[in-house]
Amino acid sequence: MMKRILLLSLVIVAAVSTSCNNSATNKNPVRQELFGNHKGKEVYLLTLTNKEGNVIRLTNFGARITWIEVPDKDGKKDNITFGFDEFESMINGDRYFGAVVGRYANRIAKGKFTLDGVEYSLPINNGVNSLHGGPGGWHSSVWETEVVKKAEEPTVVFTLKSPDMEEGYPGNMNIKVTYTWTDKNEIVLDYECTTDKKTVLNITNHAYFNLHGAGNGDILDHVLTIQSSAFTPVDSNLIPTGESLPVAGTPFDFSTPHTVGERIMDEFQQLKLGGGYDHNFILDNASEVDATLYDPSTGRYMEVITDQPGIQFYSGNFLKGTLIGYGGKPYNYRSGLCLETQHFPDSPNHPEFPTTVLNPGETMKSTTIYRFSVK
Ligand code: GAL
Repeated sequence: MMKRILLLSLVIVAAVSTSCNNSATNKNPVRQELFGNHKGKEVYLLTLTNKEGNVIRLTNFGARITWIEVPDKDGKKDNITFGFDEFESMINGDRYFGAVVGRYANRIAKGKFTLDGVEYSLPINNGVNSLHGGPGGWHSSVWETEVVKKAEEPTVVFTLKSPDMEEGYPGNMNIKVTYTWTDKNEIVLDYECTTDKKTVLNITNHAYFNLHGAGNGDILDHVLTIQSSAFTPVDSNLIPTGESLPVAGTPFDFSTPHTVGERIMDEFQQLKLGGGYDHNFILDNASEVDATLYDPSTGRYMEVITDQPGIQFYSGNFLKGTLIGYGGKPYNYRSGLCLETQHFPDSPNHPEFPTTVLNPGETMKSTTIYRFSVK
């Protein structure tokens, strides 16, 4: 009897402390807490828990994914994306971990493009090029945060107003990014953008994945598929040459499963130029799932589904181990990879690529899903 009363009171204490903490539970699947302050604005950490009891974390600094905690084949949970324990480390750390990147994901050659005869100049922040929307791009902005209380599944909406000529791009833009963490362990990313002046736009999410768990070894043993028959080769500045090269017979053929490491050291010029894989794969768009990633040791499996025309597969070649992540673990060379669903790099200078122009009155809408399971 005594034992039962004790147990019951423990349950009550747990319930009370849960509601005081505003913990993420199924009744309250999104917990919002203050993480820090940046440029006079509050930065939040949002913890989303789905009905499976799995957790992702987001922050409105760069509309980022900072944590994806999913089970392995034995049910052991671990976080499989890059981020930092402390707010300060996040602000001073890698600019793009998990961030929404815009206005133009990837590179624009020499930071210049022309629209209707007007030449626009962008900040040069990567060799001779402009990268990921410039140093003051969307990854470094504090977005407005709304937790959607009535949603069926944990949902957070981040919005941003990007003023005309911000980082050199024309048009006042309104950007809305909705994250839903479904009960099927899917991160659904819905993007919506409008402008009041003709402009260019290429939006993506820059999450790094390591299915062993972030900070646990490299990703060379991960088995990858990308439903892509051709990729856009680059020059020595990682700018597309404008060609589409068939992947067949090259280390770029992931239409059947291959580990990332199997051919990464091959004597293949594009691998040398990229320092590994750092290329836009043109999606066939012929199947529901566009890319898959599998870690045989943990059984973790990720599917990528998108309506975008390309995926930038980046094998973490610029990681140097200098950034210290969760639990004091460094992010070493090729210890994470990105599958960035997006338009092709430098499209504003390549009329042969799908257009990235957005006109006033149009709404750019796009969805990308990262789905997690075990095999
Ligand atoms: C990727 C890009 C890489 C590198 C990285 C950020 O999107 O393809 O070349 O710039 O971002 O470190």
